[in-house]
Amino acid sequence: MIDITIREAKPEDAEKIIEYIKKIGAETNNLSYGAEGSGMTVEQEQSFLRTMQDDKQSIFLCAWKDTELVGTANLHALPRRMSHRANLGITVRKSEWNNKIGSKLLQKIIMHAKNNGLEFINLEVRSDNMAAIHLYTKFGFKKTGVIPAFFKIGFDYINFDVMSLDLRY
Ligand SMILES: CC(C)(COP(=O)(O)OP(=O)(O)OC[C@H]1O[C@@H](n2cnc3c(N)ncnc32)[C@H](O)[C@@H]1OP(=O)(O)O)[C@@H](O)C(=O)NCCC(=O)NCCS
Repeated sequence: MIDITIREAKPEDAEKIIEYIKKIGAETNNLSYGAEGSGMTVEQEQSFLRTMQDDKQSIFLCAWKDTELVGTANLHALPRRMSHRANLGITVRKSEWNNKIGSKLLQKIIMHAKNNGLEFINLEVRSDNMAAIHLYTKFGFKKTGVIPAFFKIGFDYINFDVMSLDLRY
């Protein structure tokens, strides 16, 4: 069993997160970016992480294998009449897939959502991303719809499933 530490991201992690995003973007076509990453500067990433820290309902988690960033999960709470819900994003380095890092991150995200009064976690996932769909289903997420052609990669249109975890009961 590998030793993985999961903790909330700090603004000081910004540089490592930017590098991580580029690596993960190059490893999979499941995300909204490729090897170019998010395009955020270190300052922008730091400011985003500060906002996440300051918002009680939102959280950005990092999974570390020693000093190497190997996974992230973020829960982004929504405002006003949507303040009972939050959107989820989760990634793990390809070299670590199927080692339960995704499960550990998701468990902590769900705990955080419950402890902070959130009632729904929502996400969109490529309809052919069987590993992610399996993971979400294992934690109780249900498919609530499909968004046709949500991504366009080159000339390919890619459908996404909409999934939701109802935490009210
Ligand atoms: C989705 C992702 C976060 C999962 O992370 P992970 O650390 O591999 O997750 P875990 O090891 O905890 O769980 C993976 C599960 O998927 C299962 N799985 C793997 N490949 C599968 C497949 N092709 N079909 C069905 N299930 C599959 C594994 O058996 C495991 O299930 P189990 O816990 O019941 O044994 C990771 O694959 C990833 O980062 N992918 C690229 C980015 C991405 O797709 N993010 C989600 C965007 S919505």
